[in-house]
Amino acid sequence: MRVTVVGAGYVGLVAACGLANSGHQVTRVEKDPARLSCLREGKVPFREEGLDELLHKAVGMGRLSFAAELTGAPPADITMVAVGTPSLPSGKVDLSQVQEVVAGVAAMVTEPVLLVMKSTVPPGTGAKLQERFLSKARVPIRYVSNPEFLREGRAVYDWYHPDRIVIGADDPTVVEQVKALYADIEAPVIHMDVASAEMTKYAANAFLATKISFINEIAHLCELVGADVLFVANAVGLDPRIGPHFLQAGLGYGGSCFPKDTSGLDFIASMNGHQFNLLKAVIEVNQRQRLEAARKLAAALGGLADKEIAVLGLAFKPGTGDVREAPAIDIIRLLLDEGARVRAYDPAAMEYARRVLPPDVTYTSTALQALDDAHATVVATEWPEFITLDWEAASHHMQPPRVVLDGRNCLPIEKLLACGLVYVGIGRRVQVREY
Ligand SMILES: NC(=O)c1ccc[n+]([C@@H]2O[C@H](COP(=O)([O-])OP(=O)(O)OC[C@H]3O[C@@H](n4cnc5c(N)ncnc54)[C@H](O)[C@@H]3O)[C@@H](O)[C@H]2O)c1
Repeated sequence: MRVTVVGAGYVGLVAACGLANSGHQVTRVEKDPARLSCLREGKVPFREEGLDELLHKAVGMGRLSFAAELTGAPPADITMVAVGTPSLPSGKVDLSQVQEVVAGVAAMVTEPVLLVMKSTVPPGTGAKLQERFLSKARVPIRYVSNPEFLREGRAVYDWYHPDRIVIGADDPTVVEQVKALYADIEAPVIHMDVASAEMTKYAANAFLATKISFINEIAHLCELVGADVLFVANAVGLDPRIGPHFLQAGLGYGGSCFPKDTSGLDFIASMNGHQFNLLKAVIEVNQRQRLEAARKLAAALGGLADKEIAVLGLAFKPGTGDVREAPAIDIIRLLLDEGARVRAYDPAAMEYARRVLPPDVTYTSTALQALDDAHATVVATEWPEFITLDWEAASHHMQPPRVVLDGRNCLPIEKLLACGLVYVGIGRRVQVREY
């Protein structure tokens, strides 16, 4: 099939490369000149495991071309929308990018096309887009919600191994056409109406966020009663009704999806007259985790003013350079506000962090350099290189009281304690080790 994919971000680029490698003829439309020129040089403009290879293969087979605007793309059977849907300060989802693309498609198409919405849009959006834009097009444009569930850092793997393919279509005759897009991917295909498909994506992300905030609440209680959240989470997660995933206590969730999707769903609930109190609590707990990190450091250091603090990890999770809504970014701002000096290191995200953080942060080229003369360090992203860091050497780089705040509960406690470091975890019981 001829497919146009609009937006070459994490979702759009993976989708375009995946579809081209599956034999479809794909045109990618990307309006950011920097991203586009990077792609034209055959390079992926962000870090994503396995995507370079997929891109080279697709370009090599002549199945992938580029355009800066929709009007520059050849006619297609399917136009897939994968542009950003960020949050507005109110929590409402900013649909301007989506609306611009859908209005553009409605204005320019001269032959019938299927519009597949990959961007995460609030329930009810599809109906509004159809009424406001698509119904006014000169030729029929049918609309499908096809939410994407891939995870950054594992996006290529997830593209080929999705847990399910959700097809939200009020017109059942288009389902086969969407299925054909994914003909070589083995996964349950679930057909439903558009609003339910839109809701499925929000419900999935809100539930995962709920698990994270839930275990962070348990971690907090563990600290108060002298329990260890690692034991608790491991044992609780063995119950198959609960499962082990997303039960890692830490600095909370970040990234381009959970924060905006939880606030977006909360906003939609309020607009529909429903107070989603559970979700409000999830969001509040997540914000508190960042303040908690600063509070713990202040308590361990006797205040933050004039303290040297190293932050290891800026990306919202390992395997990506994405710093959108990353806990480290908020924590650094809090530390700077309180008068601390911050030295930061991340193996993939420093270029992106520089763009959003105040200029007084010092960036180093290794983790150990960030620790030079640090009173404390925060491990904010569980990159493997921090877990296996030479903590003996680290302790010599630091100055007393040598506090390590393990914001992801990922470090080897015994080793750190043996090196004379003061270990502070999230919900950990540090004294008792033998079980
Ligand atoms: N990132 C994820 O892990 C993930 C996972 C599942 C779903 N999603 C959803 O997918 C959507 C895209 O997310 P992303 O992370 O890929 O976003 P992104 O911000 O990385 O990429 C979006 C791209 O669209 C481009 N764009 C915007 N308007 C355009 C236009 N009119 N024409 C051409 N290009 C345009 C932007 O320049 C940008 O490169 C969002 O709705 C997001 O919630 C993201």
